[in-house]
Amino acid sequence: MSDDHPPAKLWAGRFTEPTNALVERFTESVSLDQRFAKHDIRGSIAHARMLAEVGVLSADDRDAIVRGLEGILADIEAGAFEWRVSLEDVHMNVESVLTERIGDAGKRLHTGRSRNDQAATAVRLWLRDAIADIAEAIRALQGVLLSIAEREADTVFPGFTHLQPAQPITFGHHMLAWFEMLARDAERLAESRVRVNRMPLGSAALAGTPYPIDRALTARLLGFDGLCENSLDAVSDRDFAIEFVSGCALAMTHLSRMSEELVLWVSAPFGFVELGDAWCTGSSIMPQKKNPDVAELVRGKSARVIGDLNALLVLMKGQPLAYNRDNQEDKAPLFDAADTTTDCLRVFAGMLGTLQCRRERMREAARLGHTTATDLADYLVRRAVPFRDAHEVVGRAVRTAVETGRDLSDLTLDELRAFSPVIEGDVFEVLTLEGSVAARNHPGGTAPEQVRAAIARARERLGAGVGAD
Ligand code: ARG
Repeated sequence: MSDDHPPAKLWAGRFTEPTNALVERFTESVSLDQRFAKHDIRGSIAHARMLAEVGVLSADDRDAIVRGLEGILADIEAGAFEWRVSLEDVHMNVESVLTERIGDAGKRLHTGRSRNDQAATAVRLWLRDAIADIAEAIRALQGVLLSIAEREADTVFPGFTHLQPAQPITFGHHMLAWFEMLARDAERLAESRVRVNRMPLGSAALAGTPYPIDRALTARLLGFDGLCENSLDAVSDRDFAIEFVSGCALAMTHLSRMSEELVLWVSAPFGFVELGDAWCTGSSIMPQKKNPDVAELVRGKSARVIGDLNALLVLMKGQPLAYNRDNQEDKAPLFDAADTTTDCLRVFAGMLGTLQCRRERMREAARLGHTTATDLADYLVRRAVPFRDAHEVVGRAVRTAVETGRDLSDLTLDELRAFSPVIEGDVFEVLTLEGSVAARNHPGGTAPEQVRAAIARARERLGAGVGAD
């Protein structure tokens, strides 16, 4: 960024002294909001077209403005645009260079608008793109989860509650749980877009504008679904951005929980899965180490995005109507939340693409802790034993298994019959891991058959773009 021969500020008229250099640096936002350039220019072109349509701008001025802005955008995209801190933000940088290039027509662009509605519009246009990017990253990760679920639909895995072995499940079912978490994240982001996609332009500084503007036309040109109804509200509230970041924070919270599970699963005592070497890192002192740093960092980065959400909420809560400069501080948390969430989703999809299951380890762990005890109780219930009595009987059987150092499913038929005479040879069908998972055979259950049906439904939902932008 340069400021050797700064052009005059667009608001210099009222001032007798140049801005203090520290204030200039302190108040600038162009270092961040230059990221909005494309969206700002798109908004300006639509505004100019509307002004010409209602007769406020001549067709010649409109054409000069549109051509000038298109040229500026091309320069920005080619990295050939000189950003100036003295011009504070993307909006004044673009307008100032436009006037340098096309003369008086450039000075007419700002008719009937203010930087307040201009900035609020740019952030909304940018957010539409950010939401689409994140939705795409979520879909890609969901696709990876479905492939793993398909491959591991029959793979027996320990289901935990309290991190204690609880009941056997299938690994495919576990992957589908992650899929559902992400499906809601995509849904939430799509829902936030409804409130993002309303147009503030026309609100001007805070009260509207005396020109005969056609807001509906500008909105159509920009693909907004509707107008912000109140000018004071339109230039000041950033609740739509807070909703978006809240969606990011929830998605990151989900990724963090998944990361936590991966970190456990790759550790030697669990040893359930392997991740590709390219997605892990080593230790500078312990040569044997292969660490799941990517998963740990995703878990760590969730803290940042949760912080971004907090920053935006606190930024908003003390502001009186209408626009206050505080709102300029929305950029850092907003960009950080979007970038971090997108990165984490992408890295997670790449890493999971290399996940290999150690099925024997999973199976062994699923047997630990008498995880089919509930199945034995359900078996007794099917033979008319009241559930509470069945619970008691199985509890005693488990105690025997514990005392003799065996798993419940290793007790002999005679031993089991000593606890309840209704037990017969078919009991082992439910005491096995496969029998246990296959028995949970209803939509939402862990039976391999249900996992396959759920995958088919999930593929249809993904194809139909449910939860996507
Ligand atoms: N740089 C400002 C921002 O990022 C643009 C709007 C400023 N408006 C104003 N009246 N100072 O929010």
